[in-house]
Amino acid sequence: MATTEEQLSSSEFKALGRDDANDIASILADDAIDFGDLAHLTHVGADAVFTWDYDRTRAGLAKLYERAKTSQWNGSTDLDWSIDVDVEAVAVEMQAAIAHLRQRLVDLPNSPLKSWSDKEWTFMAIEAFNWRMSQFLHGEQGALICTAKIVETVPWIDAKYYASTQVMDEARHVEVFSRYLDTKLDGHYPVNPALQLLIDDIIRDDRWDMTYMGMQIMIEGLALAAFGFMHMATQEPLLKKLLRYVMSDEARHVAFGVLSLKEYYEGLEGNEIRERQEFAFEAALRMRDRLMMHAVWEKCGIDPETITRMLFEIRKPGVNPFQAALFSKIVPNCKKLGLLDAGDGWLRDRFTEIGVIEYEDAPDTEIEYALLDAVAQDREAEAAKA
Ligand SMILES: [Fe+2]
Ligand SMILES: [Fe+2]
Repeated sequence: MATTEEQLSSSEFKALGRDDANDIASILADDAIDFGDLAHLTHVGADAVFTWDYDRTRAGLAKLYERAKTSQWNGSTDLDWSIDVDVEAVAVEMQAAIAHLRQRLVDLPNSPLKSWSDKEWTFMAIEAFNWRMSQFLHGEQGALICTAKIVETVPWIDAKYYASTQVMDEARHVEVFSRYLDTKLDGHYPVNPALQLLIDDIIRDDRWDMTYMGMQIMIEGLALAAFGFMHMATQEPLLKKLLRYVMSDEARHVAFGVLSLKEYYEGLEGNEIRERQEFAFEAALRMRDRLMMHAVWEKCGIDPETITRMLFEIRKPGVNPFQAALFSKIVPNCKKLGLLDAGDGWLRDRFTEIGVIEYEDAPDTEIEYALLDAVAQDREAEAAKA
C-alpha cells in the first residue's frame, strides 16, 4: 500500500502550494513568519452587501437568532473569578488525559523523550496549557473579526441578524480567555502561524461563503473539539464552567455555518464546488499543522523538525486525540454540506488518503448543540431553586 506521503504527492492538486502536503521543510518554514509584536494587518477582500430584502424567509436562521438572544451570558458575573487555580495540577491532569500519546512518542526509536523525568513532563504540561489557552485567545479574536466580516458580506438579512449576535459572543470569548490567561496563568504564546495563515486566507477571500467555510466550519469545528477535550480532562471549576459556556455558544456558531452553507452549496456546481473542497482540505491541513505545538516543544529543548518527524511517525487514526477530535467534527460537517461526495468525490478521496474518513458519521453538531445549551440549563436550575 502506498504511504500517505506518496498518495498525497500523486494527486495533481498542490495543497497549500506544497508539492507534498507533508513536506517538513514547508511546515517548519511557516514557523519563521513574523505576525508583529503589537498588531498585524490583513486586507479585507470582500464587498459589503446592503440588502433591501428585509423579509424573514429563513426559519432555521431565525430560530438560531432567537436562541442566541436568550443565551447571552456575562463573562464578568456568570463566572467566579475569585477561584484560585493550581496551574500545575490542571496542566498535569490534562497531560494525563493523553498519556497514551505521550507513551508512543517515548517509545519511538531514539526518542529524545526517553530521558525525560517527571520534572520535564510537568514543565511541558504547563507550557502546553499556556499555549493552548493562548491559541484559543487568538483564535477567538479571529472569530470576532471573521464574524464582523460576515455581517458585512452575507447577502441574507436573517444571516446578518444572527451573525451580529455571534460578534458579541466572540467578543465575550476573547474577554474570558484573555482574563484567564492574565489572572490565572503565567505565560502567553504568540499566535500559531498555521492558525493565523488560515485566518488571513479567510479574511482576504472575496467570496462571502469562504468566511463561513473557514471560520464556522473548520476553525470553530476544531475549537469545539479542543474545548470539549479540555472540558472533559479538567476538574478546575472556573475553567470547566468557562468552557461549558463557550462551547454552548460555539455549537450554535457551527450550526449557523452548516445551515447557511447547506442552502448556498445546493446552488453551486462543478468548479465552484471543487474550489470549496480544496479550501476545506487546505484548511484541514493547516489545522493539523497547528496541533504540532512547535513553540512548546522548542521551549522544552526539542527542535521542531525532530518533533514533526516523530508526530508523523505515530500518526494513525485514533492515536492522537486532538487530531481525532478535530476530524470528528470537520468530516461529518463537510458531509452534511454535500462537499464530501460532490463532483467526483474529490474530498472523500483526500480525507481517505490522510486517514480521517472514518469520522464521516461521528455525531453531528446539532445533536451536541441540543446537549450543550448550558446557559439555559443553569438558568432553569437557578429558577427551580428560587
Ligand atoms: Fe468563540
Ligand atoms: Fe465561535
